[in-house]
Amino acid sequence: QPEVDEIQSLIDAQLHLEGPLLPILHALQDAYGIVPVAAVPLIAAALNISRAEVHGVISFYHDFRSLPAGRHVVKICRAEACQAMGGAALADHALARLGVEWHGTTENGAVTLEPVYCLGLCACGPAAMVDGKLLGRVDADRLDRIIGEIEA
Ligand code: FES
Repeated sequence: QPEVDEIQSLIDAQLHLEGPLLPILHALQDAYGIVPVAAVPLIAAALNISRAEVHGVISFYHDFRSLPAGRHVVKICRAEACQAMGGAALADHALARLGVEWHGTTENGAVTLEPVYCLGLCACGPAAMVDGKLLGRVDADRLDRIIGEIEA
């Protein structure tokens, strides 16, 4: 866990901005790869808002996370065009195969599953992204193969 003093100085550095909450969260995530749990009360105090409000914003924006991601990140497109091309079934399959909720990480820490809303591959949906690599026309079999490879 990062030092409280260090978190506090990252928060303080953003306070001059108008609407500093998102810049603070980005700064923390850039520094640590996550928004540390210890930062929530500090942010709440600095901005004079409740911890629940801070939590609400962290969970509303899918870019922020408060737990470290797994070694691999699988993103499944849940936007409309992909949904219409089998994306919903693919998403259900991914959730069941990995045994996690959205944003969850498998117990062995290998894979984190994230929803995304359009990857710009709408013409060849369902689209997915695995460790930053875009994939089109992903079906359940292909996804299983990919997961098998990255879990190995
Ligand atoms: Fe899925 Fe655009 S809707 S990539």
